Amino acid sequence: MGITLKTPEDIEKMRVAGRLAAEQLKFIAPYVKPGVTTDELNQILHDYTVNEQQAIPAPLNYHGFPKSICTSVNNQVCHGIPGPKKLKNGDIINIDVTIIKDGYHGDTSKMFCVGKPSILAERLCRVSHECLKIGIELVKPGIHLGDIGHAIQQHAEANHFSVVREYCGHGIGKVFHEEPQVLHYGQAGTGIMLEPGMTFTIEPMINAGKRHVKLLPDQWTVVTKDRSLSAQYEHTILVTDTGHEVLTLLPGDEI
Ligand code: MF3
Ligand code: CO
Ligand code: CO
Repeated sequence: MGITLKTPEDIEKMRVAGRLAAEQLKFIAPYVKPGVTTDELNQILHDYTVNEQQAIPAPLNYHGFPKSICTSVNNQVCHGIPGPKKLKNGDIINIDVTIIKDGYHGDTSKMFCVGKPSILAERLCRVSHECLKIGIELVKPGIHLGDIGHAIQQHAEANHFSVVREYCGHGIGKVFHEEPQVLHYGQAGTGIMLEPGMTFTIEPMINAGKRHVKLLPDQWTVVTKDRSLSAQYEHTILVTDTGHEVLTLLPGDEI
């Protein structure tokens, strides 16, 4: 399929999908409290997507994924499956939502702190968010994808954290995961050159310990091998003629 350049009509629909995904993260925030289960968060967002947004939760049945959102707690890196375990004070959780509206995808995630986080957890979340922001700010026609990965890796490692290598950002549009792969590490000046009309996610996974990960027997949940904390933030980005537009932001919000 290769990299699809989006038309103005595509882009308008991507804006709608992106905004709906952003609305989900805003909607769920007050529910992320000690005692709630990730299954309950999944059910709340499933119902909101289907009934209020008239949209489709993209993760549900995607390659067999059993739920409508991904919830990754503490040492879970990504693709955590919502379940019956209750969140407790001090947990950090990534909620990753992807919706399909009018045939187009919007994909975004962020960290939530449950009650009071440790100083390390707070710092990890802050640096992970900075990594995403640094990557997004570089996006404009003519830069190379490797410039983004390089900048993210530099910032994570300067803070003595590590970047997960096995999972990456991705092109997105009518297809959930399409080309290009957006690595969160690497060399400046390498990889494809960005062009207006490309849409892709940036979604760095940053570990407090070593970068290595393993897959749990459920075949979805990715955890850090050394059991250290992991954090991730994600936005869907459009390359414009002069720079970029973050599609998964609410009007008036900043990254
Ligand atoms: N939303 C994830 C991403 O950012 C993908 C989840 S796929 C699932 O690419 F099947 F685990 F839901
Ligand atoms: Co994504
Ligand atoms: Co996502």
